[in-house]
Amino acid sequence: MSLPIAEKRIVDFEELGFGIFVHFGLYSQLGMGEWIQHIRKIPKEEYIKLADTFTAENFDAQKLAKLAKAAGAKYITLTTRHHEGFSLYDTKGLSDYDVMHSPCGRDLVREFVDACRENGIKPFLYHTTADWYNDDFHEDFKSYLKYLRDSVEILCTNYGEIGGFWFDGNWWKKNNDWEEDALYGMIRKHQPNAIIVNNTGTSARGAVGNPEIDSVTFEQGRPTPMDREGMPKYLAAEMCHTMNEHWGFGENDFNYKSAAHLIETLCSCRKVGANYLLNIGPKGDGSIPLLQEAMLLTVGEWINKTGACIYKGKPCGVLGDGKNFALEAEGKLYFFVSDLTISGNENVTVAGGGAGEKCFTGVSAKIKNVRWVDNGEKLDFEQDADTLKINCTAYPYGTSLVVRIAEAEIE
Ligand code: GLC
Repeated sequence: MSLPIAEKRIVDFEELGFGIFVHFGLYSQLGMGEWIQHIRKIPKEEYIKLADTFTAENFDAQKLAKLAKAAGAKYITLTTRHHEGFSLYDTKGLSDYDVMHSPCGRDLVREFVDACRENGIKPFLYHTTADWYNDDFHEDFKSYLKYLRDSVEILCTNYGEIGGFWFDGNWWKKNNDWEEDALYGMIRKHQPNAIIVNNTGTSARGAVGNPEIDSVTFEQGRPTPMDREGMPKYLAAEMCHTMNEHWGFGENDFNYKSAAHLIETLCSCRKVGANYLLNIGPKGDGSIPLLQEAMLLTVGEWINKTGACIYKGKPCGVLGDGKNFALEAEGKLYFFVSDLTISGNENVTVAGGGAGEKCFTGVSAKIKNVRWVDNGEKLDFEQDADTLKINCTAYPYGTSLVVRIAEAEIE
């Protein structure tokens, strides 16, 4: 048995670490998630009228790219066409069901890729493979697949270098021949450095598909370590999560995860080397819901304060008590410590499970020194053949980072 060697584009993808998923389409105007057409069985003739009111007047790609940057995300994956079949890009005559034929009249994918590049963010393009608009999807699948390839070829050839393509919907017709080789071959020809993903859905998390696929997906999953022994190709892993319970804007969805949950999930993804793709769903006019914006900015502040090692940091077999673990980056070790207390006064500070000695196993290098990344405080430690014990001090009153990171230099 042997471990496959990762190709450069896949390592580069892993080092992006954190991305923002954006679900935006005609459905955003209804504010009931992106599946509403199907779930409410809205007749096609009625649903397509949403194209006549689609102005996207507040879709501001610059703002989106800047927000992603402030959030510490390195890439954004935009739904260029979702299952509803409406394209946010100029389909150049392939279909009238696109932005250019709506009052919006702007190529939103063009604005998106340009803004991403200007802000140092990699643009990734989500594209549905299942289609509720094009009748060929059910009536003439071969013609549909050509339409799909022609659509993706437009994205491959008109927008400069694309970070990756994210397909979604093959699970709809599991047993059909999707002619994946033709689709991916076309992408490799035009965009040799693009990552190719095809979402395996909630029922087949982590499943490995066509040999051209570069990363497995864990839609709404929990991060589990990838066993790469004997794999013919090194695959990255990416976990996509909603911030509440819907991908597309859900006006009446108040079930938001906490900032602490998002930070912990980011860490648990990186613990196993997976990327975290965190979703936002802009409103019908393209504006980003305030809470979603605030959540992203909060995660960004956490990364700034303590978490910069998440990008290059790789799992290195070091594990601690509970959720604790370490990553290795550029010759240093980074210990992720959860559930610390706040020091202060017992009448006011109640958070956390405790400070004190934390044990880690699997540290093979000799540790020179350890300090908290956020405030530089040096930490006492003891090391013997099997374990490293770090005396993890409590948060100073005024601070509670959810996950706190200690950086260790090695000899
Ligand atoms: C699903 C859904 C979809 C969503 C996607 C994101 O497969 O069909 O609406 O875009 O997951 O992972």
